[in-house]
Amino acid sequence: MYQAPRGTTDILPQEQAYWRYVEQKIANICQLYGYERIDVPAFEDAGLFSRSVGEGTDIVEKEMYTFEDRGGSKVTLIPEGTASVCRAYIEHGLHNLPQPVKLYYLTSVFRYERPQAGRFRQHHQFGYEAIGSDDPALDAEIIDMAWQFFRSLNFHHLLLSLNSIGCKTCRPGYLAALKDYYAKYTDKLCADCKIRLARNPLRLLDCKERSCQPIADSAPRSIDYLCQPCAEHFSQLQRYLGLLEIPFAVNHRLVRGLDYYTRTVFEVQPEVEGGQSTIGGGGRYDNLIEGLGGKPTPALGFATGIERIISNLKKQNIAVPPLLGPQVFIAYAGNDAKDETIKLASILRRAGIAVIEAIGNKSLKAQLRQANTLGIRHAVIIGDQEIKTGTVILRDMTAANQMTLPTNDNYASIYTYIVSQ
Ligand code: HAM
Repeated sequence: MYQAPRGTTDILPQEQAYWRYVEQKIANICQLYGYERIDVPAFEDAGLFSRSVGEGTDIVEKEMYTFEDRGGSKVTLIPEGTASVCRAYIEHGLHNLPQPVKLYYLTSVFRYERPQAGRFRQHHQFGYEAIGSDDPALDAEIIDMAWQFFRSLNFHHLLLSLNSIGCKTCRPGYLAALKDYYAKYTDKLCADCKIRLARNPLRLLDCKERSCQPIADSAPRSIDYLCQPCAEHFSQLQRYLGLLEIPFAVNHRLVRGLDYYTRTVFEVQPEVEGGQSTIGGGGRYDNLIEGLGGKPTPALGFATGIERIISNLKKQNIAVPPLLGPQVFIAYAGNDAKDETIKLASILRRAGIAVIEAIGNKSLKAQLRQANTLGIRHAVIIGDQEIKTGTVILRDMTAANQMTLPTNDNYASIYTYIVSQ
């Protein structure tokens, strides 16, 4: 028996109300903040991600689905959306548009991770990017949009963590201080941190290993090493968040798992901690577009996983509106009635009424049971007697009462009754 590949899920019909709810909120928030949709390919040239997300990151080192296609090109199923959006910005000359260019996407993302609750090998991301400005007001807008998006989903009890990890000018000084500090603890570090110290010291702060926590907690803080423009940028951002009344906590251990970030980084978590607790994260990446071959172009963005949003909606008992189901079920007995069923179903659908017609040769009782199971309010019943008299029975399945309606008025009575309900 085949099963869905490990770390992937089927989204069955009973789950779809959650997905439609989230998608609708995404469309609303993007419209409110002026973001236009972009759809990028599901795979890209593999080099795009090593150049952007970074050689030393978990994503690039361990998690990418990379393969050679039949033409010999090395391609990767996208492990995130930002690099693709930046590639598209450069490729299509979007710097010619008024800046910043604001784009959002909703896409499948592929990472070969160890599957567990909230962590999949294929997940779906809603992300948005604002490209072409270094104004901290844009950082505030991006964070505000994330915050208001989660609020629009009815989430409460969220935490926003914020940090600034500096720029090309001030980062080297900070990394040197971090390395000096960690050098004193090499014998106490976990195996991964020993590698991080040599290859990607910023990621030392992100270690989840218990024994490394006190060391990381007391490590030098990037905000103490910011150059004047970065310090000014971070202080303006915090002031704007104050104006917007968005509560946040500066967390000096927040560095994020992708290498392209500069200055602002932020994450949103539910207050109640759980395994994979981060529901969204983002930040500034002022060198990325240039690194990919474009002109120097400051930018930032945010992304959130839909699966994690939905699992939090469920955890917080947030009800979502049900999807519109069929309004009418047509049950029949006998061949003449079957012809009439086919005709009536088509007429009602053309008039905009959602109809399920009985298919096959189940008993009338079984057909009505099906209508009940499907939760359909109205059942039209057509038997020999109804064919003879040019009528149908219309049963209200919830109120369990019924009436007889004519069909010789071109089904107008049936239509009028259903739309009046
Ligand atoms: P990220 O933090 O790697 O950032 O992913 C963003 C969000 O995607 C996470 O907060 C989480 O909700 C969801 N997510 C990530 N991995 C998984 C997984 N294996 N299973 C389920 N959900 C997952 C980025 O990808 C950046 N591109 C965000 C960004 C946009 N930065 C700037 N612009």
